[in-house]
Amino acid sequence: MKPALSQLGVEMSRLSGVRAIMKDIIETLRSGEGQNFINLSAGNPVILPEVEQLWRDCTGDLLASAEYSEVVCRYGASQGYQPLIDAVVQDFNRRYGLRLTERNILVTPGSQSLYFLAANAFGGYTSDGNLRKIVLPLSPDYTGYGGVTLTPEALVAYKPELDIDYASHRFKYRPDFSLVNIDETTGCVIFSRPCNPTGNVLTDDEVSKLTTLAAKYDVPVLIDSAYAPPYPSLNFTDMTPTFGDNVLHCMSLSKAGLPGERIGIAIGAASIIEILEAFQTNLCIHSPRYGQAIAARAIRSGALGAISLDVIRPFYQQKIAVVEETLSRFMPMDLPWFLHRGEGAIFAWLWLNDLPIADWEFYQALKKVGVIVVPGSTFFPGLHEAWEHKRQCLRISLTGTDEELQTAMQRLAQVYTETMNGNG
Ligand SMILES: Cc1ncc(COP(=O)(O)O)c(C=O)c1O
Repeated sequence: MKPALSQLGVEMSRLSGVRAIMKDIIETLRSGEGQNFINLSAGNPVILPEVEQLWRDCTGDLLASAEYSEVVCRYGASQGYQPLIDAVVQDFNRRYGLRLTERNILVTPGSQSLYFLAANAFGGYTSDGNLRKIVLPLSPDYTGYGGVTLTPEALVAYKPELDIDYASHRFKYRPDFSLVNIDETTGCVIFSRPCNPTGNVLTDDEVSKLTTLAAKYDVPVLIDSAYAPPYPSLNFTDMTPTFGDNVLHCMSLSKAGLPGERIGIAIGAASIIEILEAFQTNLCIHSPRYGQAIAARAIRSGALGAISLDVIRPFYQQKIAVVEETLSRFMPMDLPWFLHRGEGAIFAWLWLNDLPIADWEFYQALKKVGVIVVPGSTFFPGLHEAWEHKRQCLRISLTGTDEELQTAMQRLAQVYTETMNGNG
């Protein structure tokens, strides 16, 4: 059976961006039986014993309570499960001195779906035929933004400025405010902070500049806080979460150990929340409630906030230190490689300037020595212009053991040296 597809059907059934690479990785792992790959491609968080125990305890508590049947045997409100909404309102008001009410919260089945709702509610063609753009102000950014819009031409990303420290082989992306265009043609702005794939954390000033620009035109700014404080707190540099009338603080509990339960939480103005809530009702009625019920427990007790700071953050912060240290030891210091400053998230981002082959070919060469990373070119959704840099980067997941990371970085350094010397 080969059903005819609509334009949208073609668009949404395409393997785009990182999903195409993931297919190649899965096939590689399957066909390479006997070969021990060090797989540093995953976006899946490591299962940390303390974090798993927290979710087990919350589940045990739910199962033993009278609430259980209410949670799994009943439909609920589209906005989310009330005890979770209450827990988030209380926690954020206490932490950040806000005056949130339940009208400021929306729970979605994972934060990916939140970006889908917002990208299509605010971006795309208006009823009078004008295109409202979805602006990604700092490219590269999360590959998933490439698949969220039903109007692909609405997605626009901007080339960053590169802040390079040649001596230490480090760099950092910064938004190029001479390029970033936010005006009456903008539907919404989205960026991740900390950023997947680069580990970048936009400074408080940069965020304020973007939200102020957007506020002038009543444009919602979605700050993808999948790695941000207060949970999972995967920032290794100070950052203050930003709130405001046109800001949607978008959380995910995936990196706090709950990716399977699909919980995204948006915090923002009631006028924005209501639009997304209605969209969600049409799409799926509401998010599953079991995960929400255990999340409510973990947030209410303070355990999720504490475990984020005491367990999750130190775990990945130590991993980025291992990658930094190993690359500094084995990479040739006379060649132009630059590691992005490890400011957060669960990835390292390596820029190999002047690489004579494409990132995709380098990825293939690494596979031959048993190392799997993700070619960087998949992380530039919406950036259509030709730019050599797009094919000179790699994303390295920090989910390996210390030994795996050390071995993989050592092998990477060797492949890189051979490639740059023309022996690759
Ligand atoms: C920056 C960023 N945003 C959103 C998501 C999607 O997360 P969720 O599991 O909440 O849909 C991810 C997942 O890796 C991510 O890295």
